[in-house]
Amino acid sequence: PPPAANGVKTGSHVEEELPADRVLILYGTQTGTAERFAKSLRFQLEARYGGSGKKFVALDTEGYPAAKHLHHESCVLLLMATYGDGEPTDSAAEFYDWAVETAESGDDPELLKSVTYGVFGLGNRQYEHFCATAPAGAAPADADAQRCRQGRGTAAHDPFLASVLEVRELHTALSTRSCVHVELDLAGSGIAYAPGDHVAIFPRNDDAVVAEAARLLGAEPDSCFTLGAAPGGPVPPFTGPITLREALAAHVDLLGLPSKAALSTLAAFAKDKAQAARLARLAAPEGRDEYHAEVVAPRRSLLEVMREHASAQPSLGAFFASVADTLQPRYYSISSSPRAHPAALSITCVVVDEELPGGRRHRGVASSYLARLRPGDRLPVFVRRSAFRLPADPATPIVMIGPGTGLAPFRGFLQDRQAVLEARSGSGGASTAFGPATLFFGCRQPDQDFIYREELEGWAASGALSVLHTAFSRAGPRKEYVQHHIEAAAEAVWDVLQARSGCLYICGDAKGMCHDVQLALAALAGRALGAGEEAGADWLKRLAAEGRFMRDVW
Ligand code: 2AM
Repeated sequence: PPPAANGVKTGSHVEEELPADRVLILYGTQTGTAERFAKSLRFQLEARYGGSGKKFVALDTEGYPAAKHLHHESCVLLLMATYGDGEPTDSAAEFYDWAVETAESGDDPELLKSVTYGVFGLGNRQYEHFCATAPAGAAPADADAQRCRQGRGTAAHDPFLASVLEVRELHTALSTRSCVHVELDLAGSGIAYAPGDHVAIFPRNDDAVVAEAARLLGAEPDSCFTLGAAPGGPVPPFTGPITLREALAAHVDLLGLPSKAALSTLAAFAKDKAQAARLARLAAPEGRDEYHAEVVAPRRSLLEVMREHASAQPSLGAFFASVADTLQPRYYSISSSPRAHPAALSITCVVVDEELPGGRRHRGVASSYLARLRPGDRLPVFVRRSAFRLPADPATPIVMIGPGTGLAPFRGFLQDRQAVLEARSGSGGASTAFGPATLFFGCRQPDQDFIYREELEGWAASGALSVLHTAFSRAGPRKEYVQHHIEAAAEAVWDVLQARSGCLYICGDAKGMCHDVQLALAALAGRALGAGEEAGADWLKRLAAEGRFMRDVW
């Protein structure tokens, strides 16, 4: 290839120039994955830190004159694939042997110590020698080399780095709100989910929020720091080394309510006496009413309180340990079935963007983050099993109640049923009975937020969905809610649940919708039993105890 602008040749060609102040990304690749990662990393570093004057170079280990040049590098990132029986790739064999020999012989103990480096291992868990090329064996024991593992996606401590396949708006242009469909690639993970399970994502604050928080802390976003635990002090949420930008983006809830403890710490740092006094008052037991009236009721965020008390600039240690709460993973009902989409899952999420008292605007951290994602972005995820499951016997009839994004798990159920139907028709027709499925869906307006409309109509036509009831709350002269349609279809609902031992599912808002729907169901059952609503409520409880009434509510 032609020489790059800085005179350093890229690709697998030997460089003649000595390395300048740069970050070198070295890759050992067999089929091109490590190379792709290396180039993507170079691109991302360039985009983020290119303005700093630093150069970022990605080179194949093959042909890189390590013995001659490595001393002069300031920062090296190694992306090493493992191949065959735990060996390095062909192209990395020479570099690998040299690195191991140099480290083990102790001939040149200063060599690797003078270089800051990180190691990223690429491998496949199905092989016995998973990531064997990447462990710290290639490095002196005291070097800060780290092996970054791809997790399996089974728990918060073992997240899988999923790629975004698609982000799609589900509302029409007539809607003033936004609801996004986010499809994630699970290929290569250990994730085996079922429709009804939840996926957790780790949200990130957006750039503007991060920039403002850094400014209020009086620190450079690109400054790098570590956190340590003071004896007897709080355990830091992370240790670093980490840039302030990353710590603020990924680890702290800047848009959440500040706790009284947070206000008290801010008070201790406030230089302005009036601000210190106000913060201390809000944090004190006798300031309870003010805290409620001025912080809780108007839903003031930590960022807003810091903005209003800008003289309070806590140290980074105090801020991360005692002021900001840790940003928690958020759970979403998976809206797909692996039977229809092997190795992928989807999330269906309304983007929280609301006006607060005084014209302030609140954007949800996690939903905005999901809406900002673009195909190719990667994010850590893990799946949590749930008890919200299709009946084991496909002959069991089901009744699903899911207005708004409460539809999410039912989309997974219906995709699953559609896939079962298709597999049956492919194998020569139905073998066992397939119970009917009834869905009660509700939204505001049919031409605005009737999400997945074409899919639902398609499943209604194919038989995956037997009856579709839709309640539009803002389309006619009076509000129509799902429970109104349940009441109108009382006989059929009762028949499915009582006479045919069906399963009942509710998904969505817990306080309003689920509560009201349960009242309607209890009334319906009470009437059918010839008893009161209380008997109906007991019947609903028995249904739950038998595992035939499942809720996924928030
Ligand atoms: P609304 O916002 O017009 O009141 C999805 O959010 C749908 O659920 C919307 O049509 C919404 O109507 C409706 N909804 C709101 N509160 C409800 C409740 N208590 N019971 C049933 N549906 C409700």
